[in-house]
Amino acid sequence: MDASTFDAVDLIRTKRDGGVLTDDQIDWLIRSYTDGGVAAEQMAAMAMAIYFNGLGPDELHRWTHAMIGTGTRMDFSSLSRPTADKHSTGGVGDKITLPLAPLVAACGVAVPQLSGRGLGHTGGTLDKLEAIPGWRAGLSNDEMLAQLEDVGAVVCAAGSGLAPADKLLYALRDVTGTVESIPLIASSIMSKKIAEGTGSLVLDVKVGSGAFMKTADRAGELARTMVGLGTAAGVRTVALLTDMQTPLGRTAGNGLEVAESVEVLAGGGPADVVELTLALAQEMVAAAGVEADPAEALASGRAMDVWRRMIAAQGGDPDATLPRARHVDQIRADRDGVLTELDAYAVGVAAWRLGAGRARKEDPVQAAAGVEWHRRPGDQVRSGEVLLSLHTDTEERIPRAKEVLAGAWQIGDAAPAVRPVVLDRIDHGDG
Ligand code: URA
Repeated sequence: MDASTFDAVDLIRTKRDGGVLTDDQIDWLIRSYTDGGVAAEQMAAMAMAIYFNGLGPDELHRWTHAMIGTGTRMDFSSLSRPTADKHSTGGVGDKITLPLAPLVAACGVAVPQLSGRGLGHTGGTLDKLEAIPGWRAGLSNDEMLAQLEDVGAVVCAAGSGLAPADKLLYALRDVTGTVESIPLIASSIMSKKIAEGTGSLVLDVKVGSGAFMKTADRAGELARTMVGLGTAAGVRTVALLTDMQTPLGRTAGNGLEVAESVEVLAGGGPADVVELTLALAQEMVAAAGVEADPAEALASGRAMDVWRRMIAAQGGDPDATLPRARHVDQIRADRDGVLTELDAYAVGVAAWRLGAGRARKEDPVQAAAGVEWHRRPGDQVRSGEVLLSLHTDTEERIPRAKEVLAGAWQIGDAAPAVRPVVLDRIDHGDG
């Protein structure tokens, strides 16, 4: 069908008034927007109409496949082992990809982790790994396939060829208040994951103050929508709903999170990071149809061996000293008691303000900046003890980070209810 087949204004009116778009209309709209035939302001109006009126299951399916159709698809069928990928909807201190990719590879599964950079209060996996001297994110498809066959795990930048419509649409949604729409988030994430060509996919859908989805109901709906899209496309897809009211582990910041991940691979590390890494690894290994025990692969040091090879294969030095911040400031407890709260969103914003994240996608990030919390909810604290350390190369950033942390933690008399790391598991989709 040529570009004059439909009129974008008619399609916007249909969706605005609660109508249903046809397959041909959706195909035309996505293709014409990507080619420049539909203007950004028209697509912005459509995104807002979808924000309010949603997409039905058939529309969503077609929308996702129309986005995939604007680009190339990868093919891992030449590899000698099955593939599994993980996608997290993003959280504070979420460094799980770093220990998880080598751990799952050590179990005999190939892990192609196409990752992104951070924007706003959640960090990006590539920014974290770039704290390792020499490590590079950009690989050609051939380099990626060779590393997957040889080492078993790759974490690299997604090329511009996968679902280019999503790149345009996501940037547009970011500046038009239309990011928080379940059909738009689900089609955005799943178009890239399906185009990537993985055989199985485990989704880590975060719930809480530090996540996109603030409630378990919304997170569950997003998870079921994505599992439905993946399954219909022939990708074995499972989702875990996991807590993001409290930040994960003990650190948020690029180099700080690499150091924490290496501790996990060495058999230590914070209990919640170990628990979530193992839970996701078990799901990935099972979805790939491989019988292996991730806990054994971690304890034996095989996951650490794969990590070292994975970093070295991309030019990084696994033994290099990670950068240290020029300034470290501290926040201390003001009374004796139990830490009852540490708010993930505030910690994420503080790390960002210290220089770990970026406000615009072209901004540089500081490898050593971030927040370290020395106590977690449920821990006893004594007056005067250090609760939080703030790391930055730019001292003048510290007051603004302290400002956002001022109401972010509470000390009480009674321990808070223990919040599980994994809240739910979803293996059936909607639609
Ligand atoms: N991540 C994505 O890739 N897309 C969204 O819409 C939201 C988060």
